Amino acid sequence: MRRTALITGASRGFGRALAERLAADGWNLTIDARDATALAEARAAVDAAGPGTVVALAGDIADPVHVAALVNAAAGLGRLELVVNNASTLGPSPLPHVAWLRTADLERVLATNVVAPLRVAQAALPHLREGHGTLVNISSDAAVEGYEGWGGYGASKAALEQLSRVLAAEEPGVRVYWVDPGDMRTQMHQDAFPGEDISDRPEPATRVPGLVRLVDERPPSGRYRVEDLLGVPA
Ligand SMILES: NC(=O)c1ccc[n+]([C@@H]2O[C@H](COP(=O)([O-])OP(=O)(O)OC[C@H]3O[C@@H](n4cnc5c(N)ncnc54)[C@H](OP(=O)(O)O)[C@@H]3O)[C@@H](O)[C@H]2O)c1
Repeated sequence: MRRTALITGASRGFGRALAERLAADGWNLTIDARDATALAEARAAVDAAGPGTVVALAGDIADPVHVAALVNAAAGLGRLELVVNNASTLGPSPLPHVAWLRTADLERVLATNVVAPLRVAQAALPHLREGHGTLVNISSDAAVEGYEGWGGYGASKAALEQLSRVLAAEEPGVRVYWVDPGDMRTQMHQDAFPGEDISDRPEPATRVPGLVRLVDERPPSGRYRVEDLLGVPA
């Protein structure tokens, strides 16, 4: 039976690169993003990459109705073994200092980067428990460092990491990983550095083997950095 995975935010960037790799490895996939046109284009590419079934549902991960539909669709493809909470928002660009971070913007960042992945995890847990599956929450070095401007996004990733840490203690039958993928040449990274040349950052596909190693080798639940998993600098 094919393994089945759900990856949020897979129309571009790291999520799409991961989806293409898992498809090539034979997984069934359910993916999402808000922009239906970009998602349809990504679905076609992911579908062409492998023999499994690929379902794409357009929607906002912060919408509870969309989350329920997404997890149902994924569980309908087979035993759900892997959930990757990858969809995320940076918040306002340019990144504001904490002193003038608008609370309404922070609330939106927390809804997408903390509440939504929690909702996905809660909906998926019964399936993951049954199959001794894996939950991956994509985090960032901004969760643990004090970079100027990164207070809102960093606080959201720090909260996601602490939810992951406690969940890992509570769910010994499920692998829970919170993962820093390192800098990548993506739209989010460009939005963080508007107008700057980010062409020296690695392509997201180069970071994917680190995550695949986690999924395949199933080390203990915990915080992992892709650069350590790959043995190369981020
Ligand atoms: N790039 C880096 O340097 C870097 C570094 C550390 C951590 N990360 C983390 O890595 C992950 C992937 O980031 P990335 O750089 O690949 O970002 P990206 O290229 O901007 O891609 C983000 C993906 O998520 C989707 N998305 C965003 N908001 C969504 C929402 N509310 N609902 C559903 N889908 C949504 C986007 O599509 P739509 O816009 O159409 O919804 C897109 O498919 C994120 O968790 C990010 O925080 C990135």
